[in-house]
Amino acid sequence: MSAPRGQFSSNIGFLMAAAGSAVGLGNIWGFPTNVAANGGAAFVLAYLVLAFLLAYPALMAELTIGRHARRNMVQALRGIATGPTSRFFGGLAGFGGIVVASLILSFYAIVAGWMVAHLVGPFASLAGAEGAVEWLTGNSTARNLTFTAIFSGMTMLIIASGVEKGIERWSTLLMPALIVLLLLLIVYVLTQPGAMQGLEAYLMPDFSLFSPQLMVSAMGQAFFSLSLGVGTMLIYGSYLSRQESLPRLGALVTLIDVGIAFTAGLLILPAMYVAQEAGTRIYADSGELIAGPGLILQVLPALFDTMGTAGLFVAIAFFALMVIASLTSSISMLEVPVAFAIENLNVPRRLATPLVGIIIFAISSVIIFNFDALFGLVVSASTEFGQPLLGVALCIFAGWIWRRDQLLAELREGHPGIEHTLFWKIWPWYVRIVCPLLILAAFVQSVM
Ligand code: TRP
Repeated sequence: MSAPRGQFSSNIGFLMAAAGSAVGLGNIWGFPTNVAANGGAAFVLAYLVLAFLLAYPALMAELTIGRHARRNMVQALRGIATGPTSRFFGGLAGFGGIVVASLILSFYAIVAGWMVAHLVGPFASLAGAEGAVEWLTGNSTARNLTFTAIFSGMTMLIIASGVEKGIERWSTLLMPALIVLLLLLIVYVLTQPGAMQGLEAYLMPDFSLFSPQLMVSAMGQAFFSLSLGVGTMLIYGSYLSRQESLPRLGALVTLIDVGIAFTAGLLILPAMYVAQEAGTRIYADSGELIAGPGLILQVLPALFDTMGTAGLFVAIAFFALMVIASLTSSISMLEVPVAFAIENLNVPRRLATPLVGIIIFAISSVIIFNFDALFGLVVSASTEFGQPLLGVALCIFAGWIWRRDQLLAELREGHPGIEHTLFWKIWPWYVRIVCPLLILAAFVQSVM
């Protein structure tokens, strides 16, 4: 059939790749701003609980199915199906995953393109090219197309190199760099005037703000942040060796993801209040903290501007952090359709990558040309509808359709004696009943 499959060379390689997928704009931008918009530590608390009680079990479903099948989501779900009906729905969910992963990448690449442009900006400034700076940090269609293309090209270059030489190598290189940059920025920002007020806004809970809506936002955040539902984690699991304990690796990925989201909050919220201290508006007219693109693209750059030349270097560090976080995530999205093209359509990786990549870039371009009409629509269709519904499907496949003895056999690999652990006593029931019901409840709540 197709060429031999790639595999991660070590569990550290897998960990960096899976954590790299999880840690992205969702952590460094989405999480802190969700916190700011939803009552500070009340949201942090809800998020922590949901990440471990809901997202972790769903992550385990994807990793276990993926490693068992050693195939992409379409073939994996068809493979564990027990009859023609479940085979049909398995294939359908698998295709759904590919479509939703591609849609998520199509808007993610636009946002990541802004980050690349803002990373280049300070260099242009150092070179004295003020006209270029204006173009880079303005918001023109040409700028957006150019930098979405550049970012998509970077993503394709990594994916074209394969699992070990592309995904694993780059994730192992970039993730430590991300952590170092994040910590350096935090140390710098926390020493600036105003920072403590930001810390307070971040960490003082206002429990009166607990609401169903807050729980729904926290769940959406947890699902997006752990890259769930679309087969990303499933495909990474399929490249994992049988010598590793899945529950342990999954727990580590969750911990790293949650840890970095929390740490990013220590940077973003204090930075907003430092910006306020320096004279930048951080509240919108509605009285809420500015949270959307305005936060990253206006409030923080305004802050860097007040810092003089040092600000240029802080800006470089900050946008480098954003680009790195985006890249280790975008490669995991592109791998979903590419793996399908390789395994089901027999296209070699070096050809499949540019083909799929260009189709997704075409979708991004359509969004860029119709930004106001399409951007928000694609974001909510993929993350508020696609992801939760596919997440339910994956839980149903792991919990109801897959034969229990096969599931146990897969988990035992790398974790002998798992049947005597607390994990095995709780998790199978959890993915069976609790996860689908909770996800559906939140879905209904958010749609209504
Ligand atoms: N988790 C990433 C972030 O926080 C984004 C991401 C990567 C993703 N792969 C995904 C989101 C698959 C949904 C589905 O930014």
